Amino acid sequence: MSVPITVRPMTKADLGAAEALCETLDYAPSPDDLRSHYESMADSSEHSLMIAELGGRVVGFVHVFIKRMLEDAPQAQVQAIATLPDVQGQGVGSRLLAAAEDWARARGIGAVTIYCAEYRDDTHDFYAARGYDLTVRSSRFQKRLD
Ligand SMILES: CC(C)(COP(=O)(O)OP(=O)(O)OC[C@H]1O[C@@H](n2cnc3c(N)ncnc32)[C@H](O)[C@@H]1OP(=O)(O)O)[C@@H](O)C(=O)NCCC(=O)NCCS
Repeated sequence: MSVPITVRPMTKADLGAAEALCETLDYAPSPDDLRSHYESMADSSEHSLMIAELGGRVVGFVHVFIKRMLEDAPQAQVQAIATLPDVQGQGVGSRLLAAAEDWARARGIGAVTIYCAEYRDDTHDFYAARGYDLTVRSSRFQKRLD
């Protein structure tokens, strides 16, 4: 019998587990930063943070938000999606991605965009197998503001 996967909104109580999930994404926010980032979005209707549980254990999360632009219709952007290494390949990521799409669809959004690092070949295959087309290869520019 397969272990049930549950998807639900993230709460403050999940932030410890979210720390480990950020490591899967090669980020290491401090607990204080993570809490502050969470609190800046928790009440926003334009962001959704969702957790996946496998057999009651927090094993994944997705952050999706509505990106508004002057030049184009609003899109949903999956900002982050991650599952713990020891559960990957069991369907958790697929459930989280579908939940993000459902969230966007329910708000009348017509497309979902995901930016993914070049080196994540396996993840590119994951998106392609779930109907995502590679539309643009781009470079990221950033300036630190003092
Ligand atoms: C991408 C990711 C979220 C997928 O989650 P998951 O729980 O493994 O997803 P599922 O079990 O539903 O699907 C597994 C699929 O992803 C592929 N896959 C990608 N990376 C994988 C990995 N590290 N381990 C196992 N399968 C992986 C499998 O080949 C499988 O493909 P298929 O079902 O089309 O044959 C997860 O592997 C992950 O957190 N990766 C590291 C972080 C990352 O790349 N995040 C996205 C940044 S843009």
